[in-house]
Amino acid sequence: MNGKIPHIVQYQGSKRLLAPQILQYMPYKFHRLLEPFAGMAAITIAVAAERRAKQYFINDINKPIVRLLQTAINVPDELITKYTQIWNGQFEYSGGHLEHFYHIRDCFNAGEQTAENMLYLLARCVKGAVRYGKNGKFNQSPDKRRHGTNPQKVAENVYAIAALLKGKTQFSSIDYRQVLDITQAGDLVYMDPPYQGVSNVRDNRYYSGVDFETFSKSIEILNKKSVDYVISYDGECGGKGYGNDLPESLRCTKILLKAGISTQATLLGRKDTTFEALYLSDRLANKLFDFIPKQMTLFD
Ligand SMILES: C[S@@+](CC[C@H](N)C(=O)[O-])C[C@H]1O[C@@H](n2cnc3c(N)ncnc32)[C@H](O)[C@@H]1O
Repeated sequence: MNGKIPHIVQYQGSKRLLAPQILQYMPYKFHRLLEPFAGMAAITIAVAAERRAKQYFINDINKPIVRLLQTAINVPDELITKYTQIWNGQFEYSGGHLEHFYHIRDCFNAGEQTAENMLYLLARCVKGAVRYGKNGKFNQSPDKRRHGTNPQKVAENVYAIAALLKGKTQFSSIDYRQVLDITQAGDLVYMDPPYQGVSNVRDNRYYSGVDFETFSKSIEILNKKSVDYVISYDGECGGKGYGNDLPESLRCTKILLKAGISTQATLLGRKDTTFEALYLSDRLANKLFDFIPKQMTLFD
């Protein structure tokens, strides 16, 4: 991979930094990549940057997120012009830049769920974390120290992403199970569902939780259809695992990727390395490990 992988905007849980490691476990060339839990589609963008697949399918249950990606890829000029207008507006707003954020958030919650409003909210909110209250309203606060990525930087990234994916990408905003229904042999599915540790708690990090049993059953169907897949699921920190492993009956190969030093542990004066689990379908692991000795791939 040459240089940095472009990204539209910060997104909590983005796999951008892990992408080079994750791509090591994908075939060199394949027909179509599907991302049912795309978020900001870091893996789709990284795969496209290496021109590994011919077609791409981006899905996320959160509609404004998909609208943002679709607009960025298909009509980048439109997105950049509108984002620039909103971004400049914060410096002219009578109540100041924080009030401007709340104003755009109110417009979004009143139904103006446009790509540019979503982009501005993500660029300006705390940790790029999409949070919705019980009433379904976006309720994340602005990051008081930042004004959000400047339009020129966003433009560079958006044009780079559009050049990689325009004309090759389908979009949808449906439940992941409906996306898995349309998969066929020859496809590669990359899945990054919300973490188990956070998906069922009250302050939900993402739009909707994903039930473990239902998810496992969906994977079983992919096995039956001989569709290759890679799943990011759960994490481990300092030897302490959290969340369930995927059931052994699915016959996946589990790999631990080094994700960095845990900020939580650093605060407590420890230096625990965090690991992120990656599960490969049995078929894919068999194909890959014909070329790569298994033990060398675990912690490189
Ligand atoms: C961990 S994030 C994905 C981050 C992504 N890999 C990236 O690099 O930006 C999980 C995503 O799953 C989406 N999601 C949650 N429940 C879903 C469902 N039932 N079907 C499809 N997407 C869902 C969330 O909206 C969220 O964007």
